[in-house]
Amino acid sequence: MVVTNICCVGAGYVGGPTCSVIAAKCPDIRVTVVDLSQQRIDAWNSDDFNLPIYEPGLKDVVKECRGRNLFFSTNIDEAINAADIIFISVNTPTKTYGLGKGRAPDLKYIEAAARRIANIATGNKIVVEKSTVPVKAAESIHRILFANTTNGVRFQVLSNPEFLAEGSAINDLMNPDRVLIGGEQSSSGLRAVEELSWVYEHWIPKEKIIKTNTWSSELSKLAANAFLAQRISSINAMSAVCEATGADVGEVAHAIGTDSRLGPKFLQASLGFGGSCFQKDVLNLVYLCEALNLPEVAAYWQQVIDMNDYQRRRFANKVIGCLFNTVTDKTITILGFAFKKNTGDTRESSSIYMCKYLMDEGARLHIYDPQVAQEQIIADLTHRDISEKSERGKFKMATTLETETEWEKVSKLVKIYNNPYEALEGAHAFVVCTEWDEFKELDYLRIYNSMLKPAFAFDGRRILDHDSLKNIGFHVETVGHKTTLKDFLPITP
Ligand code: NAD
Ligand code: UDX
Repeated sequence: MVVTNICCVGAGYVGGPTCSVIAAKCPDIRVTVVDLSQQRIDAWNSDDFNLPIYEPGLKDVVKECRGRNLFFSTNIDEAINAADIIFISVNTPTKTYGLGKGRAPDLKYIEAAARRIANIATGNKIVVEKSTVPVKAAESIHRILFANTTNGVRFQVLSNPEFLAEGSAINDLMNPDRVLIGGEQSSSGLRAVEELSWVYEHWIPKEKIIKTNTWSSELSKLAANAFLAQRISSINAMSAVCEATGADVGEVAHAIGTDSRLGPKFLQASLGFGGSCFQKDVLNLVYLCEALNLPEVAAYWQQVIDMNDYQRRRFANKVIGCLFNTVTDKTITILGFAFKKNTGDTRESSSIYMCKYLMDEGARLHIYDPQVAQEQIIADLTHRDISEKSERGKFKMATTLETETEWEKVSKLVKIYNNPYEALEGAHAFVVCTEWDEFKELDYLRIYNSMLKPAFAFDGRRILDHDSLKNIGFHVETVGHKTTLKDFLPITP
């Protein structure tokens, strides 16, 4: 097969950027990204390139390729039929109902995509599982495809998990550490692996393309995210020890990160990791281990999530404790709502939890984020999953009444701003929840003068210049550093 046509089902954070880069690097291949959501596709096709996701560098790539060999469409059937390779990049969120609620991944979108491919395809196809799935999901896709085709169409199902991180997706896709392709260990399976590999070889050196069996590939994706999340939980666990002892977590991270066996990355203590992947994928792994009757392994990975929940709660408690154990009717400015800088994505953002904990105590919140739209913030703070979620990720039933109350609470307590200085005026405290670079550049003397005194600065990302804040007069608290009496005195050179 000579690959001339690729279809991607799912025009989200993965499907959109991944296929834009494939189109840019493979001008000989026509790439069509399809989605059920007309609104999303319209945004990808918008004249002013007001794309549905914010990702540095993405707009330039779309500008270069859209209409040339990159297309966005809701005509799913036509795109499937024309394609040699079909990527499935649909969402696989944690289930919010039924068996495995709150832990297992919801595979209904994957299954719907597979059934549609089976019903539509009239020629042989390579179907690529790009979404993150439990081990053996490819087998289910395979069975659905085979059970539903009548006209002799042959399918090969490959696993090709995506490792991009949001905020750096274009660079991650252009220069990946590796590409992973898993396939059936048969001659036709291995041939399909080579076909997909050929696509990536347009810009990625062959030695960076790892080829494995299907199950290793599927498990490697879950393992990679579990190891990364584990590192953050490990350094966050150390941050609690630092705060109790006087050690500084930045110094500890530097000291251990210089060991070449450990390396310096992913050792930034924070108010907890967020994002659509880490929690979902670790829970996916935990659920898988339980299903495989490996309770000790499941408990081991569950602890990564428990530590993250603990860290979020612990930092919120620190804010409340420092503000004289009551934040009722106090104004607290939340700087940053996205789950990390350089994205407008708020899924599982620790900001949401910080806001929720402070609202539960009756605090008034002024929220500023340079990328997140006001409607998104309101939707997140009133979302049933958040209002339902109790401690340690366990769900309780919410009645309609409770959800309505959540709306009232949010409209009473929350104000959203487009300007950080306005958001900070008259506040008792601010909390840095996202590590946006612009927060380092704010005029903190001006901010101090506009805030109530004592003015509290809580740096949940350890990005600010704490000495200069203290010199201005702020009471500064951060993750992984014990505040002592000396911290309240101006720094003398
Ligand atoms: P997303 O929610 O941004 O996008 C998924 C899209 O699929 C949505 O636009 C939805 O409308 C569409 N869709 C769902 N069912 C469909 C169907 N049957 N036909 C057509 N379109 C359909 O999700 P995402 O963040 O792009 O994640 C996709 C997958 O990739 C998930 O499994 C995720 O775990 C994985 N992943 C995500 C990231 C990331 O950074 N977001 C990174 C690596 C892997
Ligand atoms: C992650 C993986 O990195 C990526 O490989 C995978 O494909 C998808 O999941 P993403 O969630 O987009 O990517 O961002 P990432 O940079 O991993 O950050 C996740 C969360 O951890 C963010 O909230 C971030 O702020 C936090 N984090 C990251 C820390 O708290 N400390 C760190 O040292 C690193």
